[in-house]
Amino acid sequence: MPRTMIEVDRGSNEPLYRQVRRVIEHSIATGIFDPRRRLPSSRELAAELSVARNTINLAYQELLNEGLVLSHERRGIFVNPEMLAAVAAEEAVSEPVIDWPSRMRRYADEGVPDVEKRADWYTYPYPFIAGQIDVHSFPATAWIRSLREALYQPHAFASLQDSVGADDPLLVEMIRREILTARGIEAGQDEILITVGSQQGLDLLGRTLLGPHHRVGIENPGYLDARHIFLRTGAQVYGINVDQDGLCLPETLSGTALVYVTPSHQHPTNVTLSMERRRRLLKIAAASGTIVIEDDYDSEFRYEGSPSPALKALDSTGDVLYLGTFSKFLSPGLRLGFLVGPAELIKELRRVRRYQVRHPPGHTQRALALMIESGDYHRALRYHRRQMKTRWEMLSQLAVECLPWDQAPYPPGGVSLWMKGPPNLDAVELVSHAEEQGVLIERGDIYYLQSSPPRNCFRIGFGAIPTRSIAEGMVRMGDVAKELLAER
Ligand SMILES: Cc1ncc(COP(=O)(O)O)c(C=O)c1O
Repeated sequence: MPRTMIEVDRGSNEPLYRQVRRVIEHSIATGIFDPRRRLPSSRELAAELSVARNTINLAYQELLNEGLVLSHERRGIFVNPEMLAAVAAEEAVSEPVIDWPSRMRRYADEGVPDVEKRADWYTYPYPFIAGQIDVHSFPATAWIRSLREALYQPHAFASLQDSVGADDPLLVEMIRREILTARGIEAGQDEILITVGSQQGLDLLGRTLLGPHHRVGIENPGYLDARHIFLRTGAQVYGINVDQDGLCLPETLSGTALVYVTPSHQHPTNVTLSMERRRRLLKIAAASGTIVIEDDYDSEFRYEGSPSPALKALDSTGDVLYLGTFSKFLSPGLRLGFLVGPAELIKELRRVRRYQVRHPPGHTQRALALMIESGDYHRALRYHRRQMKTRWEMLSQLAVECLPWDQAPYPPGGVSLWMKGPPNLDAVELVSHAEEQGVLIERGDIYYLQSSPPRNCFRIGFGAIPTRSIAEGMVRMGDVAKELLAER
């Protein structure tokens, strides 16, 4: 007979035989004992539990008296099938006492749409989506090499220890030297915080800097995740329109605690904030005491001309908060990013982060640091940028040929094209009809703040789709768009 799960507690005040009886009863009710097979004999149980046989006999006697078990001569003791249902019902878990929804905290972003993140996107032949990567172009060999190296000395401690609130100093140094300098930003070690992506950076900033009495300006249309995060702090969020030169600046930002911008390639339209507006934004913000967050999520991807310097590079006061991420080039699944800001703020954010997640995983931090240090990171980035440029050129050309309206030229950067169809195009319908043809594109109306947003916008991402699939996907998308417009 296999061992039972019965255990006795010799330190308990409950007599041993009662403990045995209770556990047998529970095991019968929960189906641990198969009712078709005999229960363990008193000899077997006594030996297993190292108790006197009499203790087990007493337990079985009580169960026999109550009719829970039956004794069949020479065959042993069995569960009484008639009692089984009754015992099970008694043991059955009753309805929850807690009304869970009423106990959960409610946030002010209820009803604001979420960016649709489809788990099955890679099963579609033409996934024109922006938030994922083509996994085949991930620099796997270099990454594996770095991961392995990060586990051996002198890197093992950095990879495996609990660093409490600290970041990997080598990664901070690599970001400082190899990544920020390329964006024209100078920062000290104590002005950088590693995050598990820009999203965590935004969340930490929201928790630390915002509350219900604050007003926050965001781009309209703009990044939905930022909108959610700011609303969840209780702050009042309002939209500032975007045109072909980026954010349309108001005369003043007085009364606005914080402004969130994506100057390199505005999300979702991809336009670049003009130099003149960058300077003016910094001036107005300084005059109004408004904090500026610059989300530089895909500055690596510039396909013509030189990339514009970061807003933070123009910031003479050092107050601009800068968010960077490794999600767009390396992978959004690695969850690594960073935040640059004044040392005293970084110190507090580190404390907030400590009581959430302590720190981003040490192993991935050190591996990334080693990958940057070895030169593999920048080699892979150059290769990837060339691939993305090819995709952008193909797409911009094909958009002109396949889509029945002309919107060229497209801003030469980013990981997506923002499409504005004719007013009679219903892009929500386009998205669903295209999906039937295996083509995934993203609806655009959800990025607007107004209650009746334009319905003729959508996004064609090219970070995830293999280059060879772009042409056929665009032809299919174009056919669907033409059909829809012809029906109107
Ligand atoms: C505007 C913007 N910021 C940041 C990110 C990246 O976020 P994370 O670093 O949390 O992956 C994205 C990705 O979709 C984005 O569109």
